[in-house]
Amino acid sequence: MRTNIQFSFFLRFIPMKHLVFMLFFFLLGCAKNNVERNPFLYETRFDQNINLSLPAFDNLNYQGGSLYWVNGGIKGLLLFNLAGTIMAWEASCPNHAPSSCSSLRINGVTASCTCEDYQYSLATGQPLTEGATYSLLFYKVQQNGTQVRIYN
Ligand code: FES
Repeated sequence: MRTNIQFSFFLRFIPMKHLVFMLFFFLLGCAKNNVERNPFLYETRFDQNINLSLPAFDNLNYQGGSLYWVNGGIKGLLLFNLAGTIMAWEASCPNHAPSSCSSLRINGVTASCTCEDYQYSLATGQPLTEGATYSLLFYKVQQNGTQVRIYN
């Protein structure tokens, strides 16, 4: 109760235009938390651990190395070694809803969609094809030596 009285006393000394300005930024801050990651791809929960010392993950031990990993994500994961940091991207094309042809295929340092041949950079996730709006969906990665945790 006392806090409310102190707060309303404080508000009397703030000009109305400043209050409106502060409210605008407050609402802007709230809106940021509700930003949709991608309108085509739904949120999926998974938690995968891989061990880079196993032969199956040998490609990821080299800069520019990549690997498709079926476990996790919507249509699997595209893993990429960017200067020693493992990046994990969703393997479902980010520019259309998942369909029978929307699985991305690794092609060197890029990924391509079999539907309309949209290309994406595995280093940045950025689309490389004109007309493609959304970047690859990224997932969280924690690295501890050869142990890599990929999750969402
Ligand atoms: S699904 Fe349409 S461009 Fe990939």
